[in-house]
Amino acid sequence: MILVTGAAGFIGANFVLDWFTQSDEPVINLDKLTYAGNMQSLASLKGKPNHIFVHGDIGDRALLQRLLAEHKPRAVVNFAAESHVDRSIHGPEDFIQTNVVGTFHLLESVRTHWGSLDTEAKAAFRFLHVSTDEVYGTLGPADAPFTETTPFAPNSPYSASKASSDHLVRAYHHTYGLPVLTTNCSNNYGPYHFPEKLIPLMIVNALAGKPLPVYGDGMQVRDWLFVKDHCSAIRRVLEAGVPGETYNVGGWNEKPNIEIVNTVCALLNEMSPRRDGKAYADQITYVTDRPGHDRRYAIDASKIHRELGWRPAETFETGIRKTVRWYLDNQPWVQQVQSGEYRQWMDQQYGNKA
Ligand code: NAD
Ligand code: TYD
Repeated sequence: MILVTGAAGFIGANFVLDWFTQSDEPVINLDKLTYAGNMQSLASLKGKPNHIFVHGDIGDRALLQRLLAEHKPRAVVNFAAESHVDRSIHGPEDFIQTNVVGTFHLLESVRTHWGSLDTEAKAAFRFLHVSTDEVYGTLGPADAPFTETTPFAPNSPYSASKASSDHLVRAYHHTYGLPVLTTNCSNNYGPYHFPEKLIPLMIVNALAGKPLPVYGDGMQVRDWLFVKDHCSAIRRVLEAGVPGETYNVGGWNEKPNIEIVNTVCALLNEMSPRRDGKAYADQITYVTDRPGHDRRYAIDASKIHRELGWRPAETFETGIRKTVRWYLDNQPWVQQVQSGEYRQWMDQQYGNKA
């Protein structure tokens, strides 16, 4: 079995759902259920014995020690993190606690467990750390995309905390020989994305008749990857990646934010037109820019293609269409997120039990 942390979040939930379409290998899902953790995203796994949910913190060493000793996973995939740049600007502390201190405790727990394994199990074990392209900092318009050897230059508390965790993971390989793998991926989009991030926020606000807030001039560039493609890249790295290596993951799909917002508006005009016949783009509102806003991210994903044969299956055109369709077809999920009802899962599940 594998232990997946943060698998009630956006990418982790997609990863686990995708995993069970390919494999019966059990998954232990360790998640703290912060505001970003949503068990509704995993509702289709209810009653499935192969999915074991554990409510807990990656920084809880006693819990980790127990889980690792009891289940003896062959791999740990670490998605757990605070992930929203704007939140890191307003309150960086949780980012340091989970992304830096939490990852450190997780690594220590895993190192102790790994040290107790026999030679064969030790060699087969993997710790896969899921990270971001934001650790590399920002690019000018003519700069070459980030490669795995681009020096780290994080600019936000979020990216600085992720860069710290990447460095710790690297050090645990270099110093202790822990068989680690790191993936640095560009911006994901797709089903179950919390509507504080650009694409789901635009869909949800557009349908609610609210303004579509575009930061600054809207010309900041991101590379966008459909979340299912990120999941297949992680599976591939877990399967065939070389311990100690890092792999950049991207969609070869750079776009300015305003183009993303206009695309979402055009798809909504087609699939769910406004009652007044006007265009959703009329709701676009330029707002004050994010402090320290990185201008451009771009990923060179040729190493993972060359060495592991991975490439994305979706183009942006197919992926964004599927995403808008998913939000239109899954309004109850959106409503539970917006009303906060999704956070009552612990109460419903355990009632007054300790
Ligand atoms: P998310 O915020 O949607 O989910 C994070 C999950 O981690 C939540 O379920 C939350 O409850 C859980 N969590 C938070 N703190 C925890 C802790 N201390 N212990 C256990 N669980 C905890 O994030 P996401 O968008 O799914 O991102 C997952 C990972 O991928 C993160 O490490 C992020 O840095 C990385 N990443 C994200 C993107 C993206 O575009 N979203 C791109 C590249 C890399
Ligand atoms: P976001 O989804 O927060 O991801 P990240 O900051 O990790 O790239 O934002 C994507 C881009 O969209 C980023 O350049 C900021 C911008 N943005 C807006 O213009 N308006 C918004 O309301 C949000 C949430 C983001």
